Amino acid sequence: MSDIKKVIRDKKTDLNPIWIMRQAGRYLPEFRKIREKNTNFIKLCLNSNLSAEITLQPLKRFDLDAAIIFSDILILPYGLNQKVEFVKNVGPILGDLNFDQISKSTENVFTEKVNSVYKAINLVQNNKLTENKSTIGFVGAPWTLLVYMLNKKSPKQGLEKSFFENDVLITEILKIIEKFLKIHIKNQINSGAEIIQIFDSWAGLLDNKDLGKYVYNPTSSLVEFTKTLGVPVICFPRGIKDYKKYCEIIQPDVICIDYEIDPNQIAKNIKIPIQGGMNPQILLTDKENLKKEAKKYLDIFKDHPYIFNLGHGVLPETSPSMMEYLVKIVKDY
Ligand code: CP3
Repeated sequence: MSDIKKVIRDKKTDLNPIWIMRQAGRYLPEFRKIREKNTNFIKLCLNSNLSAEITLQPLKRFDLDAAIIFSDILILPYGLNQKVEFVKNVGPILGDLNFDQISKSTENVFTEKVNSVYKAINLVQNNKLTENKSTIGFVGAPWTLLVYMLNKKSPKQGLEKSFFENDVLITEILKIIEKFLKIHIKNQINSGAEIIQIFDSWAGLLDNKDLGKYVYNPTSSLVEFTKTLGVPVICFPRGIKDYKKYCEIIQPDVICIDYEIDPNQIAKNIKIPIQGGMNPQILLTDKENLKKEAKKYLDIFKDHPYIFNLGHGVLPETSPSMMEYLVKIVKDY
């Protein structure tokens, strides 16, 4: 069994497994080489052989404990026939959401459309490099996907009031998203995903009073569903203020924390396995500082079941040698 599974299942505190969000990606020259030749990002995600190869790239370099499948949370709207494009230096741009069209989507058509993701998971899971390691599948949380599907781009400047205007429509869209996320989770598990991480990257945009409707209810439903399939769930509600309440309501197997939350408070208040926390910017400083900051998290969580990770995705400017050093620090601890 992988160390990550031991931490999750047996609540082991003497193991320090590590994986990194966005570990397969732009900070690696071997990824950039493939990416240059594959300008359409969605197409690249849907190329099973290349997706599996990219997923395994970081494992060839570093002693990581998991492979996270190279795909994207926006594969879901793509599978529902909403247009999704990734524009250089801009990010994702989606087409208009056609409600009639997405409400007619079926499980078979969706599965067919994104089937290469599942094939990639299968290739990764059967590769020697993932022996004794965990293969992690993932989805975006319903709220974060709703944001992209209605806002049609990253809400870097926040959401306009008009976003919430049509409550009836939003409720219907959320139901569809939830239904297809369950299908996507089930398919990933059937193809070999051993852990599911739910990314709620924009949870921090909501007022407390709106968390029930947009975050707690739909995400709990996904967590419960995944647990019934016998697979542990890691939740990452980035930017949320009350992680304790989130854990009490959602009941994930692991909570992944962002870099703005005070890790001491988390260690004091939360008893379930914890993942992540360190600011990805630290990897852009120097080795001495990296050691100090990584040790800070390791010390704070030394009596906790803890999976080392960052408090958000690794930045494209990161040097692979800093990543290598980080893995060494964690493994030598
Ligand atoms: O973690 C991994 O290595 C697995 C692959 C993965 C990607 N996206 C590949 C990717 C995962 C887990 C994601 C999740 C994802 N995608 C999230 C949640 C995590 C987070 O960052 O908050 C979100 C919000 C997205 C949507 C998305 N995809 C955005 C906003 C962007 C553009 C900005 C950015 O961060 O790069 C992407 C593109 C994307 N997804 C890239 C990669 C490797 C970069 C593509 C490129 O080469 O240009």
